[in-house]
Amino acid sequence: MKIAVLPGDGVGKEVTAQAVRVLEAAVGNAVPLELIEAPIGQAGVVAAGDPLPPATLELCRAADAILFGAAGVPGDEKLPFDQRPGASLLRLRKDLKLFANFRPVFMFPELIGASTLKPDVVDGLDLIILRELTGDVYFGEPRGIRTLPNGERQGYNTMLYSESEVERLAHVAFRTARTRRHKVCSVEKANVLEASQVWRDVFVRVGAEYPDVELTHLFVDAAAMMLIRAPKQFDVMATGNIFGDILSDCAAMLTGSIGMLPSASLADGGKGLYEPVHGSAPDIAGNNIANPLAAILSVAMMLRHSFVRPDLASHVEAAVARVLADGYRTADIYQPGTRKVGTIEMGDAVAAALGPA
Ligand code: IPM
Ligand code: MG
Repeated sequence: MKIAVLPGDGVGKEVTAQAVRVLEAAVGNAVPLELIEAPIGQAGVVAAGDPLPPATLELCRAADAILFGAAGVPGDEKLPFDQRPGASLLRLRKDLKLFANFRPVFMFPELIGASTLKPDVVDGLDLIILRELTGDVYFGEPRGIRTLPNGERQGYNTMLYSESEVERLAHVAFRTARTRRHKVCSVEKANVLEASQVWRDVFVRVGAEYPDVELTHLFVDAAAMMLIRAPKQFDVMATGNIFGDILSDCAAMLTGSIGMLPSASLADGGKGLYEPVHGSAPDIAGNNIANPLAAILSVAMMLRHSFVRPDLASHVEAAVARVLADGYRTADIYQPGTRKVGTIEMGDAVAAALGPA
């Protein structure tokens, strides 16, 4: 397996280092592994004058899977779109056609107390936010900033969803639900937006091909409310790019910390990019305090989806559960009575829990 390793910026570098060592430890000699590191984000600007250097893009195109840390620096939003370190990830997603973004949200029993919600609301929580990742207002044209006749600046973006884009995501949603609790909740804003009306129509049509899966619909505002009020009702929540961006941060906090949430962005054919849901977190970068578990759990997703080695994936997930049971906590999930550790020590603990390869 050829793996592109893109640590990127901020805490991305720190958590990816721990994820890589866990990947190597988990795989051992079971699968030949070729890891190639390349710069992206601000690191790409420094190394090659481009947040997504052509060599990095080529490497990702040729790789079987990509392990991504984080990209972005403070002030990102002041630069033109294609020069923004944070936007390099968007270009990569688009180029590699990584349209299906899985953001599983599950509760480790040990962390129930770290959630801001009452224990009975989150105990046993297990849902997936399936976010469409290559369309919507993120990529819709026209976009830009124009000057109106009265001299005032106006920013504009276009929300677009075509049937084929929604259809392929819908099939992924229903197939995923079949491996779980057979429920899909499609989330949009069809009461206001035409793009959402098409989204809903397609989900209804595709849903008819999966009579064994229950399909429900929620407007995004109600979905946000329900995620906080009664999140256990959800199995697969399928939604568009911008709504998925927002709802997945919201859902992340149900588990106590966004530092716990892994993700997989998949193209047709098994290629995937694996990354923690959190960003570069410049405010805490470089201090060895970031939680590497989201990156490590992203490695588990890589083992499951791109390596098709569910056994190795479960092994990594069990090691994470074990270190949590043993009381190891980074600052974001720390509670009195547990053992506060840094990024590296957490990686050490997971690697030790994996045992000899
Ligand atoms: C995410 C992030 C990205 C997004 C940013 C870094 C461009 O927030 O993956 O959720 O908006 O998709
Ligand atoms: Mg986000």
